[in-house]
Amino acid sequence: MTTFVSENSIPCLSDFVAGNLGIYFPPPRWSELQRSVERATQALGFPDVEACVNWLLTPPLNGERMAVLTEYLTVGETYFFRDPPLFQALEGEILPALIQARRARGGRPCLRVWSAGCCTGEEPYTLAMVLKRLLPDLDGWDLLLSGTDINLQFLEKARQGIYGAWSFRNVPPYIQERYFSLTLDKRWQLNPALRQMVSFSCLNLAADPYPAAGNNTSEIDLLLCRNVLMYFDAGTAAMALTRFHAALAEDGLLVVSPPEFGMVPGDRFRMIQYGDCLVYRKISKACSPRPAPPNPYESVPVVSAQPTLSGTGGRVAGTPGKTPSARRLAPRGAPPLAPLPPRDGCAALAEMEAAYSRKEYALVRELGGRALEQGPDNGEVLRLLVRCHANEGRLEEALSLCDRAIARDRVNAAGHFLRGMLLLEGGALPEAQASFRNACFLAPDFVLAHFISGDLARRLGRIVVARRHWRNALRLLSECPSEAPVPESEGLSAGRLREMLETLLSRGAPP
Ligand SMILES: C[S@@+](CC[C@H](N)C(=O)[O-])C[C@H]1O[C@@H](n2cnc3c(N)ncnc32)[C@H](O)[C@@H]1O
Repeated sequence: MTTFVSENSIPCLSDFVAGNLGIYFPPPRWSELQRSVERATQALGFPDVEACVNWLLTPPLNGERMAVLTEYLTVGETYFFRDPPLFQALEGEILPALIQARRARGGRPCLRVWSAGCCTGEEPYTLAMVLKRLLPDLDGWDLLLSGTDINLQFLEKARQGIYGAWSFRNVPPYIQERYFSLTLDKRWQLNPALRQMVSFSCLNLAADPYPAAGNNTSEIDLLLCRNVLMYFDAGTAAMALTRFHAALAEDGLLVVSPPEFGMVPGDRFRMIQYGDCLVYRKISKACSPRPAPPNPYESVPVVSAQPTLSGTGGRVAGTPGKTPSARRLAPRGAPPLAPLPPRDGCAALAEMEAAYSRKEYALVRELGGRALEQGPDNGEVLRLLVRCHANEGRLEEALSLCDRAIARDRVNAAGHFLRGMLLLEGGALPEAQASFRNACFLAPDFVLAHFISGDLARRLGRIVVARRHWRNALRLLSECPSEAPVPESEGLSAGRLREMLETLLSRGAPP
């Protein structure tokens, strides 16, 4: 038996697989492709691998050949609650907000969730567990929870809902006890109520039509496609992301895995940070950001001289809608993640910060208003009020207060950063970029300012600038323990941010 695929066949097979499945085997992975074909050759009883490859490549690519290709070439790695911080964010913030928005529409509420590349079902079933906890009135909802995959065997296993211990790595034991029953052969069978929540179907993301109402891939509120695009060639991944954009509802969210962040086009998806993870919100009108709101900052002079800083820095969040509690950036020269004591003394500040972290914004506003009446303007108080207004959707008030904070202390990077976030939220990208530039200039060790500046530069097509910011952020993080929270980030860990940055940088010029 010939054990090697000929030199001619392997590039053909690689092209054929990329063209039909989207899965890319570049030359360094040809040995992997070779091993997969060897296994198929043996299992299917071909006399040699060349015969097997010829059979696979002979048109038409019917269901039988497709099943062989997917069986031997897809990666079936998955488990329940894969990426716990993501599921914490989904359960704690993302889904509750979506649910609230859908309830607010009136009528029978509807929620559409799609796990694309769902493998053996662990991902959509995890979502089912979360949604069951969040929707006590589940029967009153039109809930779509769809899992699609190209591999028919995976889908069959998903439908059965029976899992071995390996699917539960990193999962607290109560999950098995609460949602599964033990089978005679010591595996775990998912409870029927959860099984019925999810529908599974075959969908090839590289070739099948989507979005389409007929296969439940339109008007999606939450789309998870994790650890799938990373195996695709760049063209197929870009095509899939374009279609995901079209498949999402106007305010729909896309979740990919950290190694895939660099593939998501910044002109069509806006990055949003939830604690330790990033998700993407659809930007509805591609390439035409919302018109800039009136900019009350034209009067704020751009900083033109390097000031002497001691502990200025910004509180940072991926979006003003999700702002962090007060933590401060380290001064230049100090370890980048060391916290600082407050710069502006104000008796009410601690109470305001506590209320802010409980999301009691009305109380924060009341305390802040009183503090400002009783004493001189305090930057910390003003910036916390800015965040409250922004979180409550009052962008103009937030901008006006931010203006006041900057006027009080023009060399405080926090104010400029916050201004950048507000302008970003209002769609004024070039103006936001100028503010972030100020923030990075005033506090060169402001890790998140570099990170977000990089993302913004990427959205504006300035890839070289984006990469420079990301490299800066990576350098600043290089000495930090992985578990250290990134200052101003509402809990994003240094390790996680490092991982994101490494991925973004390793991707070269993003699409
Ligand atoms: C590594 S698993 C990811 C499973 C799950 N999303 C997770 O993150 O745990 C990758 C999945 O993508 C599927 N896949 C690969 N190519 C695909 C394609 N062209 N269309 C749909 N699914 C595909 C594979 O069959 C496999 O189940």
